[in-house]
Amino acid sequence: MNDKIIIVTGAFGALGREVARTLETRGARVVRVDAAASAPDGLAGADLVPGIDLTDYAATQAMVAGVVARHGALDALVNIAGGFRWETVSDGEPATWELLHSLNLRTALHACKASLPYLIGREGARIVNIGAAAAAKAAAGMGAYAASKAAVLRLTEALAEETKDRGLNVNAVLPGIIDTPANRADMPDADTSRWVTPQALADVVAFLLSDAARAITGVGIPVTGRL
Ligand SMILES: NC(=O)c1ccc[n+]([C@@H]2O[C@H](COP(=O)([O-])OP(=O)(O)OC[C@H]3O[C@@H](n4cnc5c(N)ncnc54)[C@H](OP(=O)(O)O)[C@@H]3O)[C@@H](O)[C@H]2O)c1
Repeated sequence: MNDKIIIVTGAFGALGREVARTLETRGARVVRVDAAASAPDGLAGADLVPGIDLTDYAATQAMVAGVVARHGALDALVNIAGGFRWETVSDGEPATWELLHSLNLRTALHACKASLPYLIGREGARIVNIGAAAAAKAAAGMGAYAASKAAVLRLTEALAEETKDRGLNVNAVLPGIIDTPANRADMPDADTSRWVTPQALADVVAFLLSDAARAITGVGIPVTGRL
């Protein structure tokens, strides 16, 4: 990653922590952005940007401009911020569809749009969005979430087409169930050995950010472990 300056959103969450750590291990300068007010322990000396609500476009623009002012440039953006609700159509609230649209699509759209002025034309520039395997087919209770992640994939495709002649690669990673403490608590009887680990996902994100993936743009890669 050779000192590449990379914004990771949702970096205080389960997947974001691992992605940020992996990219740093490989030599990137990682800026960790999150809505949470305080970062997890053990990140002394890291570039932390807590308390940023990425559904607020002005706040997102100011955050990206601040990163560029501190580091002098921006090489890549990894959009991990997002949220989940399990809710059936019969028993759920219509407002949940707007909530997940906002948490998953709006956050990614705002971060992409705010970063474009710095990424376009920059050698090796990348955006990686985190979608979900559910973007392709929704199970019961997954409608609002799947619709919002399908929208993230469509954003990825459209932005990749729009920028493919301007040196920017835009791709998505589509995780299945991730082996996180929250999922273990929610599904205590599941066979967790079949889930995908945050480390395995971080490796795929790192690949997409690397020069080895220079010919890949506009795709969503399912990364689902053994499910
Ligand atoms: N876990 C899974 O099985 C799974 C499967 C497929 C896809 N994914 C996707 O993978 C990503 C990470 O999942 P995860 O399990 O690591 O989730 P997580 O632990 O909840 O982490 C998500 C992080 O995003 C932050 N965030 C939420 N809304 C935000 C906003 N408006 N502005 C800035 N930050 C915001 C959250 O902060 P707060 O906690 O303060 O809100 C949290 O720190 C998500 O996009 C998720 O949809 C997860």
